[in-house]
Amino acid sequence: MNPPGSPVAERLESLRHEFALDAAGARQLIGRIHEEMRSGLAGGRSSLKMLSSFTRHPTGRERGRYLALDLGGTNFRVMAVELSGERSFEILRETRIAIPGELRSGDGERLFDFIASSLDAFLGESGLPGDGRYGLGFTFSFPVRQTGVKAGTLIQWTKGFTAGGVVGNDVVVLLERALRRRGIGCVSVDALVNDTVGTLVAKSYEREGCKLGVILGTGTNACYSEKGKDGVIVNMEWGGFAGFEGNAFDRTLDAASANPGSQLFEKAVSGMYLGEIARLVLVGMAKEGLVAAPEGPAYSLTSEHLSRLVGSAPASGDGVARAVAEIVSTRSAHLAAMALAAVLLWQEERLAEDGVVAIDGSLFEKFPGYRETMVAFLEELLGEHARNVHVEDARDGSGVGAAIIAAIASGTRPESGTP
Ligand code: GLC
Repeated sequence: MNPPGSPVAERLESLRHEFALDAAGARQLIGRIHEEMRSGLAGGRSSLKMLSSFTRHPTGRERGRYLALDLGGTNFRVMAVELSGERSFEILRETRIAIPGELRSGDGERLFDFIASSLDAFLGESGLPGDGRYGLGFTFSFPVRQTGVKAGTLIQWTKGFTAGGVVGNDVVVLLERALRRRGIGCVSVDALVNDTVGTLVAKSYEREGCKLGVILGTGTNACYSEKGKDGVIVNMEWGGFAGFEGNAFDRTLDAASANPGSQLFEKAVSGMYLGEIARLVLVGMAKEGLVAAPEGPAYSLTSEHLSRLVGSAPASGDGVARAVAEIVSTRSAHLAAMALAAVLLWQEERLAEDGVVAIDGSLFEKFPGYRETMVAFLEELLGEHARNVHVEDARDGSGVGAAIIAAIASGTRPESGTP
């Protein structure tokens, strides 16, 4: 036990301050996000890339069967999706494959060969007629400068990926080459999609009034439809927001990361990093002689561990780790709410209208108390307007959205086969 006033209890209290984000601090950050949005949209210097997706909201009438590939989280997914043309869809078949670590960091061609071979296996198992042609949406959840709905170059890797030969190249071309190497001739890549855009489009296919697509998972990001760009959906890449300074633990994590100096907001918020922040806090406390040193190397404590600590009944001996897990996850939820409020306030004139914020990702879906903490802070920041904002799950949105965008891009060309 760590009674009030004990050195451990005092250290936890000071950590709560170091990781606190109150409404006044959040409002300052919102102001900075708006400055960065303005400058990013105008093509000036900004830590928010504000990338055009070349896509608008769907009508809900898109129909047909499409394939979707989804690369960017912990698992790689292949899906076959049926769009009814009447605002509903069905996932006909899906496979998830964990991406082997060496493919994240090795040669990019091998990563794309892995994608192609997974698709090949998927097509084989689906018993597709070999002479069909299938439209495909490619969700590639990294910062991509698109030049069209099915063309775009990778600006930089995020989320620990470092595979060579991909940055600066058109990822659709890389995918198409890998499909050819694999002898897959029956697929046409019709759309390149960020997961946030897929999430927004999938929700907006089901019903009107979706304002934001958000990911709170391995990484974090959001998109919205920008009136200044004629309603085109803009992928903000908010994980790159640099106006948030963070504390000494954030700086230690960043310095040792695969991409020092970038994705500072993502490193304070997303599931890939929360466990490591908590581990660094515990290492610091161990150096002060307050707790035993945590076992294991960097990143051995994951957000799933934190999630279990926070979600289970307190057990003897885990009190400090549990408190630390709560401290870092609460800050993450507050920062996420702050960024959500920033985007909603950016479209202030629409705040009086009801709107949905579609969110996908394990942190939001599974971390105990995360959603509640986030929504409570969002309400504090938005005041009376909060009642018009409906935060909803958008599970599988990123893949389904890619299928819908492929349908839009190909003019809802009906498929000639049946995945
Ligand atoms: C990272 C990527 C971004 C993606 C997000 C969520 O921030 O750069 O493109 O949307 O992760 O997966």
